[in-house]
Amino acid sequence: MAEEANQSGTALATQAHGPEDAAVGTAVIPSDAVQNPGLPPHRKRVTDLDEKKNKRAERTVFTLFYLSVAGSLGAVLAYMFFPIETGDLMAIRLHTMFVGIGMTLALLAIGIGAVHWGKALMSDQEGFDERHPVASDPETREAAAEIFELANEESGFSRRTLVRNSLLGALIAFPLPGITLLRSLAPQDLDPVTLAKHTMWDEGIRLARDTGGSSVGGAIKAADVTIGSVFHVVPENLGQATDVLNEKAKAIVLLMRLDPSELIEPDERKDWSYDGIVAYSKVCTHVGCPVALYEQHTHHLLCPCHQSQFDVTDQAKVIFGPAKRPLPQLPITVDDEGYLIAKSDFNEPVGPSFWERLK
Ligand code: FES
Repeated sequence: MAEEANQSGTALATQAHGPEDAAVGTAVIPSDAVQNPGLPPHRKRVTDLDEKKNKRAERTVFTLFYLSVAGSLGAVLAYMFFPIETGDLMAIRLHTMFVGIGMTLALLAIGIGAVHWGKALMSDQEGFDERHPVASDPETREAAAEIFELANEESGFSRRTLVRNSLLGALIAFPLPGITLLRSLAPQDLDPVTLAKHTMWDEGIRLARDTGGSSVGGAIKAADVTIGSVFHVVPENLGQATDVLNEKAKAIVLLMRLDPSELIEPDERKDWSYDGIVAYSKVCTHVGCPVALYEQHTHHLLCPCHQSQFDVTDQAKVIFGPAKRPLPQLPITVDDEGYLIAKSDFNEPVGPSFWERLK
């Protein structure tokens, strides 16, 4: 009786869930909850049904490709007719804009043309590709292993350890000249470490307003900086630099005045600020974007690139985001005429970390 019930139960399970030859006890093959909906009925495209529309699509595609050619030629002409003049910002802008427009047009037109060609003109047949095992069959794998072993045997790669190790050494040493060539990326007459470590700031240099580009505004008096205000600052002598934009990119500073009682300053930094006025590098220590947003109420500086936040009241320490170290501080004071001046360069290299930052 029990056997009968068992048999009928198995029969039901087999009927409901799986093939009839499945073994008892392992035959639970759940039915697929989502049935294969199959393909919707094939609909012909307008370009398949109407010869005129087919021709129009063809014209559109080759027009797009010719437009791409025009874009490429335009980029080449823009490169020649809008050259970059060192120190001329307008020339750089025009060069970048027109070369960029040409290249955008060239790439965009190729992309749109190719997509339109595929969708409107190429064959519209639907087909199936059955999946097949990716691994090779056992005979092929065995043959491959045999070939490796034979090669090892004939070359003596495992046997002749001196030869093998010297070859490995040669291969490891081979890329080293490529690394030394990187030195050519920095100016030959200046030490790249010094370049990355130091800025134009030095003792006695006045803090001046940044008026954009390579121009420098007037020097700033401490009395001009009211509580809550922010100044974008550059060294007053920036104009004397041989490479103004690069020097500015390193030396740019944000100046803020807070209530002195709000500042948390360790003893060694007590004289780095002046009456609540603090100056920090504007170059984010993450990957170097300008930290340009100051939140007056919280005294937080925000980098718009990846949202790192720095606390101005507490040595510009990182309070949020991917930056790993505080913004370097520029020690400041005032001169006899009340103008803000630097006491030295920044307390450490500005911007993202580099290979010799800690030395
Ligand atoms: S560059 Fe500032 S957070 Fe990334």
